[in-house]
Amino acid sequence: MRAIAISAFGADPELVQVPEPVPLPGELLVRMRAAGYNPVDTKIASGAMKDRMSPRFPLIMGQDGAGVVVAVGAEVSRFRPGDEVYGRFTDPARGLGSYAEYGVVAEDGPVAYMPEGMLPEQAAAVPTATGTARDLVEAARLDAGHTVLIVGATGGVGQAAIQLAALRGAHVIATAGSVDEDLVRDLGAAETVDHTSDRMSGQAGGQGAEGRAGVLVADQVRRVRPEGLDAVLDLVDLAGSTGPMEELLRPGGVICSTVHALDPHALAARGLRGVNVINQVTGQMLAELAGLIEAGRLRVRVVDRVPLEGVPEALPGWVAGHAKGKAVIEIGA
Ligand SMILES: NC(=O)c1ccc[n+]([C@@H]2O[C@H](COP(=O)([O-])OP(=O)(O)OC[C@H]3O[C@@H](n4cnc5c(N)ncnc54)[C@H](OP(=O)(O)O)[C@@H]3O)[C@@H](O)[C@H]2O)c1
Repeated sequence: MRAIAISAFGADPELVQVPEPVPLPGELLVRMRAAGYNPVDTKIASGAMKDRMSPRFPLIMGQDGAGVVVAVGAEVSRFRPGDEVYGRFTDPARGLGSYAEYGVVAEDGPVAYMPEGMLPEQAAAVPTATGTARDLVEAARLDAGHTVLIVGATGGVGQAAIQLAALRGAHVIATAGSVDEDLVRDLGAAETVDHTSDRMSGQAGGQGAEGRAGVLVADQVRRVRPEGLDAVLDLVDLAGSTGPMEELLRPGGVICSTVHALDPHALAARGLRGVNVINQVTGQMLAELAGLIEAGRLRVRVVDRVPLEGVPEALPGWVAGHAKGKAVIEIGA
């Protein structure tokens, strides 16, 4: 089968021919129709997470995908060939990922029926980003009446977090440049703060730009919410740069990071809660998200589509960021 794989950590991703995977007992073999890009895919390929995994090379990139079950391993009872499913198709120890014509997933793992009415390329954009957003709003214990700032609101996780926070009745303040204000308001943000104005005046760029954006955002939020926030979902600021966001919280408030930027013990000593969220996407969660999608309460915005062979050329642009939604790989009919 065709796949996008790396021959070693740090090697360039290439289109390769590799054997089709064979489903183990309890697994589904899925003909992938689409795969979804997430920043973690390139972090893994670069070797940034190599201490946490022992992959087999060539390692097929990617986690998220959607497709059709074509075979099942022994003891599979919930799914059958012909079922349309979406989820996370990755097993680095076997060199397997989702940027391929076929992928495998355990039936009791992160897989669910594809949301009705959704195209495979939309469903493939959901699992990691929307699942992480779901974990964030849970970890923050967001509830009706809470005021939450989402930093990184225009990206894949951020767009889902806006919607899920608003569904819980929270008052959402979202970071967005002026061109993206309508986008985040349409998803449920009540207010916006512009993290890009120093970029436009040519002051930012390079090292330290994130830190300056944080101060810029914090100043704007403090002006409209001097009493403090209940929660901050920070998808951007790295360790050592979260201070301006922490200072926005009211006593007892919570900050959640997707990039392991927080020191929960130090925050607890100041009467604040800090959670470094690592997503735990499950089949049950994906089934619940599918329900919200089918009810028209949750959307995913796909902004870039490339065929499998176009991935090596497209990846540098995706890594550079400035995402305004999800990038997906169209694999087949
Ligand atoms: N821990 C986990 O389980 C987990 C799961 C998923 C993702 N993540 C991580 O979470 C981060 C976000 O993921 P993602 O998929 O949402 O990424 P993404 O789709 O690339 O979006 C990142 C967004 O952040 C915005 N941004 C960049 N700098 C900013 C700043 N200083 N202030 C406000 N917004 C800023 C970008 O827009 P502009 O550049 O236009 O500002 C972009 O819209 C990534 O680092 C990813 O690896 C972690």
